[in-house]
Amino acid sequence: MAAGDHPGTHSTVIRAFGPGRVNLIGEHTDYNGGLALPFAIARGVTVEASPRRDGEVRVHARDPDERDAFPAAAPERADGWRAFVRGTVAELRAAGVEVPGAELAFWGDLPAGSGLSSSAALEAALSLALLALADAQEPDRVALARLCSRVENEWVGAETGLLDQLASLCSEEGSALRIDFATLALEAVPLDLRGWQLATLDSGARHEHAAGGYNARREECREICARLAIEHVSRADPDAADALPEPLARRTRHVLEENARVDAMVTALQAGDLAAAARLLDASHASLRDDYEAGVPEVEAAMRACKDAGAAGARMVGGGFG
Ligand code: GLA
Repeated sequence: MAAGDHPGTHSTVIRAFGPGRVNLIGEHTDYNGGLALPFAIARGVTVEASPRRDGEVRVHARDPDERDAFPAAAPERADGWRAFVRGTVAELRAAGVEVPGAELAFWGDLPAGSGLSSSAALEAALSLALLALADAQEPDRVALARLCSRVENEWVGAETGLLDQLASLCSEEGSALRIDFATLALEAVPLDLRGWQLATLDSGARHEHAAGGYNARREECREICARLAIEHVSRADPDAADALPEPLARRTRHVLEENARVDAMVTALQAGDLAAAARLLDASHASLRDDYEAGVPEVEAAMRACKDAGAAGARMVGGGFG
């Protein structure tokens, strides 16, 4: 962008990229103090930012072609993608970052609502671009992931956990990221597939976190914690969990077994036992479908198609309900 293209802008242009993610295994464990093993992918969202001197933030979403404008000092609430941009500016300012007026454009190649975390990719790219524009020191990546997660929780209205933001901001190339959500300890686990391939398939059934069954599951998990007097579902004693009324008993069973599958996956990858890794994908899918009840018929059909086409293992990825 050349100086003078927009009144009040000059020619500094910053570009930041936020990757999407695939969660290899460990679903609905993040807000339950459990374990997950996601990895960042090459697809994601790019944000281009240049400063404006008039304190306005002007935003251009390129696909579909839509716009927004608001004062950097006082973003108000909005819906859809605008909530992400306004929320990121507001949360950065609340964290003490002097976000200036800005001309922003963003685009990407992640289908929205398909389980590859287009939301976290947008939050990551926006926050990195705005931090650079403000000439502010980057906070550590875990703190930045928490900030992005607040955008999603408080501005977008989706009670999502930290999985997607940590995966987008903290993954290393060639590795999956083992996350322990109780301690936020992160460990890179080399993703050596030894000639096997991981593929994602879009079932075509869009999900919508804020409106879907996701928030209902979070409510059930709060109830489990209250009944068992524990901080996180991952702390549940298996016998006490079995004595819970349904569907709480099977929700708890999913979380406990899924945590165990994450570490079994780490072991399988380290041993190069990809057949065992594939079986864990199948087991995770069955648990998400039967115990967590996060499945929908379109995803079930896609899973069957994968298996019929010869996949060694397959599972739904992300929040489910689409
Ligand atoms: C969505 C949420 C994550 C996580 C997954 C389920 O992707 O954004 O925080 O809860 O669902 O594992």
